[in-house]
Amino acid sequence: MTFMELCKFRQSNRKYKTQPVEREKIERCLEAARIAPSACNSQPWYFVVIDDPELRAKVARETFGVILNFNHFSMTAPVMVVVVTEPSNLTARVGSVIKNRPYNLIDIGIAAEHFCLQAAEEDLGTCMLGWFNEKPLTKMLNIPANKKIDLVITMGYPDDKPRDKTRKTIDEIRHYNVEK
Ligand SMILES: Cc1cc2nc3c(=O)[nH]c(=O)nc-3n(C[C@H](O)[C@H](O)[C@H](O)COP(=O)(O)O)c2cc1C
Repeated sequence: MTFMELCKFRQSNRKYKTQPVEREKIERCLEAARIAPSACNSQPWYFVVIDDPELRAKVARETFGVILNFNHFSMTAPVMVVVVTEPSNLTARVGSVIKNRPYNLIDIGIAAEHFCLQAAEEDLGTCMLGWFNEKPLTKMLNIPANKKIDLVITMGYPDDKPRDKTRKTIDEIRHYNVEK
């Protein structure tokens, strides 16, 4: 696939086959995330990969609930990846305060997309989840108190069909030079 084909091929997959995911593939996705850019090269992230079936089910259960009633599909994902946000390095933290911009959140978004694009390259499906119960997950996975879980990624061999992308048009998002 060309890069453009890969971008078009990646989608949020919300149904997975039971087929397990090879660790070599997961490692390549982690490598893609590892080399992602970040503000001041802070790399404020690490990834907890859950492929143990029992723990995976417990983690999946924390991505939906009474209020969050829409991520039930995560129960079908053989792998869950919890993206942990660390405090940025001092330079990026100072920059974040001065510029009032959460650089570490921007950073993990980029790293997560690197991860998901590599997964697509490996014929694996993913879905980023921004809705989950952070507290119980933090406890269950022993995440230290100064770290945050900002994203969970479901992963597995997809069992849903490719969809057309619903997106703004190029005309809606393009401005050259000053906004018209
Ligand atoms: C930060 C973030 C949080 C998201 N949270 C969820 C979620 O909790 N549940 C879900 O089903 N999809 C979630 N998504 C997936 C988006 O709904 C999806 O990317 C968007 O609709 C575009 O569709 P596509 O990924 O198939 O191209 C999330 C995506 C991002 C980037």
